[in-house]
Amino acid sequence: MEREIDLLVNYPKTKRNLQDRFEKKTEEDRAIARKFGVEFFDGPRNQGYGGHYYHPRFWHPVVPNFQKHYQLTSESHILDIGCAKGFMLYDFTNLIPGITVQGIDISSYAIENAHPAVKPFLQVADARDLPFPDKSFDLVTSINTIHNFEGEDLLQSLREIERVSKGKSFVVVDAYRDEQEKDLLYRWNLTAKSILHVDEWKRIFAEIGYTGNYYWFVP
Ligand SMILES: C[S@@+](CC[C@H](N)C(=O)[O-])C[C@H]1O[C@@H](n2cnc3c(N)ncnc32)[C@H](O)[C@@H]1O
Repeated sequence: MEREIDLLVNYPKTKRNLQDRFEKKTEEDRAIARKFGVEFFDGPRNQGYGGHYYHPRFWHPVVPNFQKHYQLTSESHILDIGCAKGFMLYDFTNLIPGITVQGIDISSYAIENAHPAVKPFLQVADARDLPFPDKSFDLVTSINTIHNFEGEDLLQSLREIERVSKGKSFVVVDAYRDEQEKDLLYRWNLTAKSILHVDEWKRIFAEIGYTGNYYWFVP
């Protein structure tokens, strides 16, 4: 079965002014953004989201694709790595009543300010060292998170996904197929340390024996 799959095809395309984000960020903005504190989530646009609020238009149209592809039911147990304020997990609980969700994020600010309905199921933790036993989850997702690592840390985060999943996982990473996409990504990027060609990502997946699904983010 094809492992490269765009399960986020229904995620709304950004309406942000790309040129605005390209021009208005400095190395200081990047350093602040990489702390994943209040500034990244709810500070100015050049340091992150420029306000991270729940709206069903983001994940509502996406979750049915996960449900169908991974045959998720009320009996399923899923983990989201880099869950931020838990908005995607909240929509999983809306669309698949009874499903068990857990989320981890390095940001204590995001977890403290998470959606109240899922906050009890979220915790501060590092993607390189997940606080769960082997084969704990029916599905592990990690969207736009592990590209914030490089080198051995990146490999370790993938090993951890593989370790805690029962075999199904889905990651999304910054990746390019040509020079135009590479240029877009580099100019857009705020926090990522690994912006790689899709073939390089596939080589890394093979190197650590990652068996899950994956797809690419380009702005
Ligand atoms: C671009 S956001 C993506 C949030 C969410 N997955 C989404 O797609 O909307 C990246 C997330 O990764 C988290 N993160 C960064 N480094 C991390 C680490 N070492 N362990 C866990 N989470 C991390 C950040 O705090 C942030 O919430």
